[in-house]
Amino acid sequence: MDQITTLPDAATAAASPPIAEASSPAAPAPDEIEATAVCAADIVLTGDRPTGPLHLGHYVGSLASRVATQDVVARQYVLLADMQALTDNAGEPAKVARNVIEVALDYLAVGLDPARSTFVLQSGVPELSELTALYLNLVTVSRLERNPTIKAEIEMRGYQRDMPAGFLCYPAAQAADITAFDATLVPVGEDQLPMIELSNEVVGKINRLAGRAVLTPARALLSSTPRLPGVDGRKASKSLGNALSLGAAPAEISEKVRAMFTDPGHLRATDPGTVEGNVVFAYLDAFDPDRAGLEALKAHYRRGGLGDMAVKRRLDGILQELLDPIRHRRARFARDPDEVMRLVRDGTERARAVAAATLRRVRQVFGLGRRIA
Ligand code: TRP
Repeated sequence: MDQITTLPDAATAAASPPIAEASSPAAPAPDEIEATAVCAADIVLTGDRPTGPLHLGHYVGSLASRVATQDVVARQYVLLADMQALTDNAGEPAKVARNVIEVALDYLAVGLDPARSTFVLQSGVPELSELTALYLNLVTVSRLERNPTIKAEIEMRGYQRDMPAGFLCYPAAQAADITAFDATLVPVGEDQLPMIELSNEVVGKINRLAGRAVLTPARALLSSTPRLPGVDGRKASKSLGNALSLGAAPAEISEKVRAMFTDPGHLRATDPGTVEGNVVFAYLDAFDPDRAGLEALKAHYRRGGLGDMAVKRRLDGILQELLDPIRHRRARFARDPDEVMRLVRDGTERARAVAAATLRRVRQVFGLGRRIA
């Protein structure tokens, strides 16, 4: 059984470190899952596929929490999951390779500190691939095919039986990521819960095989933030160009805010408007630090007499203020790409030593204790 912890949304997270009161009654916690707090002893693992620069949805859904978490826990690993990105981007390896540094820049820009968050390049830890190969012996094809997130992704990408085998198996690889670093806590969106469940199944099987605790099970840390929509109200995605990237220039921010989908029935400022499904309010919900002011604004909008432009001006100001320091930090680090990659290499080396120790233990369980070459 997974245990779930929730974090406050980014608007609160940005204002104050949220960890102490890390539970929200509004969080979508399935009943069989128990809320738990972030502990000082926790080893946290999070990661992103480097398929493009990160955007505001990543910020509100996970990056802001990671910045808060890095000060509280024993260790936080942040995985640049290039191997996983290749499971459905093998036709565009250059895209994945190019975006490793973009995502690393995003990490640095939002305030992840390599001294407190270990940056790990997945392909730089070949032990993960060996762990994956061993774990695949403990996971059935039907178990992989039943994974609801994989099922949804297969449908979205239109794969039939033509999906890459590596894609079907990536949850086993993710179990390798989680266990390799002895992670106890994995902050995720709801779609990633099945991955943690599978990982814990592998942990159970290995530990039963060994007759002792070789691997550590992990808890899920579920973000309480609803998914941030794209400016057009569809799912935010790089290919649709409807997301606001963390490095966006001021003019692009204003332009995207101006283009945001509002309430199509709200034709004149005097008309009553709807807040639900209104993208501008979804962003204000996520980022407006003045919660009381926002509630008053919503009431006014619902009542009528408040134009879209006034609401968009408020959002534009908030986003400019939020992204300005992030963009500047990003640009500063971008001037020295060698230094950025040195930070990644450094973290990867340290992480590799931990993964190698885990692999030694797992090899032993499979009777592969002795390396002959
Ligand atoms: N699957 C995650 C995503 O698509 C990325 C990821 C890879 C990850 N390995 C991980 C997340 C381990 C948490 C833990 O965003």
